[in-house]
Amino acid sequence: IRRITIPQLRARKGQEPIVALTAYTTPVARLLDPHVDVLLVGDSVGMVVHGLDSTVGVTVEMMALHTAAVRRGSVRAAIVTDLPFGSYQASPRDAFAAAHRLMVEGASAVKLEGGAEMAETVAFLTARGIPVMGHVGLLPQSVNMLGGYNARGRSPEEAERILAAAKAMVEAGAFSLVIEGTVEPLARRITEEVAVPTIGIGASVDCDGQVLVVDDLLGLTGAGTPRFVRRYADLAGAITEAASAFAADVKARRFPGPEHVFAEKKPS
Ligand code: KIV
Ligand code: NA
Repeated sequence: IRRITIPQLRARKGQEPIVALTAYTTPVARLLDPHVDVLLVGDSVGMVVHGLDSTVGVTVEMMALHTAAVRRGSVRAAIVTDLPFGSYQASPRDAFAAAHRLMVEGASAVKLEGGAEMAETVAFLTARGIPVMGHVGLLPQSVNMLGGYNARGRSPEEAERILAAAKAMVEAGAFSLVIEGTVEPLARRITEEVAVPTIGIGASVDCDGQVLVVDDLLGLTGAGTPRFVRRYADLAGAITEAASAFAADVKARRFPGPEHVFAEKKPS
C-alpha cells in the first residue's frame, strides 16, 4: 500500500472528512494506521508520555525518536510531526534544519503554531520541499504568554485575529490547518473561508477533519478530561484491573502457573 500523500490530503477539502489521531509509539501506530489518514506525532507527547506540564520543554530530539517509532509502525497514513517550541520561531533557517531532521526520521510534513509572524517561515519551508500544516486558535506552545488553555475567539476582536492567522498561514503555503480550542462558529467560518482542509480539535463538526490525542480517546489520561474529548475506551480502567489482578495472583502464589514454567529435560 502506498502511503497517503500530502497532495491527496490537500485535495480532501470539502470531500470525505480527514481522520487524524496522535501517535507516539510503534505498537499504537500499528493499530491506528488502518483507520486514520494522518498519524500526528504531536508535541503533546511531552505531556502525555513524558510527564511534562506543558509542551514548552519538548525537544527536536524527542520528536525525532517518536517520529521514527511511528514510521516503523505504519505503512498507510501520512505522518505529520510537530516542530517543537524553540526549533522554528527564531528564523526560517532554524525551522528548515529542525524540519529536515524530522523528515529524515520519516515525517511527510511538519506542523507549526502561529499566524502572520510565521508566514515567512512557512513560505521558506514549502518553497524548499517541506509541506507545512498550520495550527491556529489555542496555541499550547504560547501557554506562558496566554496563562492557560481556555477556548479562543470569544471576543469579535480575537476571532478576527485568529481568522487572519489562518489566512496568513494558507497564503504562505500551508496545505492544511489544525484549528484547536476555538468557539465553534469561528472554526466553521475559517473552514468556509480558507481553501485548504481544516482539522478540528475542540473546534467544529464542520471542519474538514477531526483529530484527538490518542490517550484521551482511549481513556488513558486521568480525570479532568477536556470538554472536546469523546472517550471511546477505558484503558485506564483495564490497566488498573490487570495490575491489581496480577498483584493478587503473585501474593497468593497463583502466578506463574504450571503452563508458564519450564520443565527439566528428562534423563535418557
Ligand atoms: O500536539 C498535539 O497533539 C497536537 C494536536 C492536538 C493537534 O498538536
Ligand atoms: Na501540538
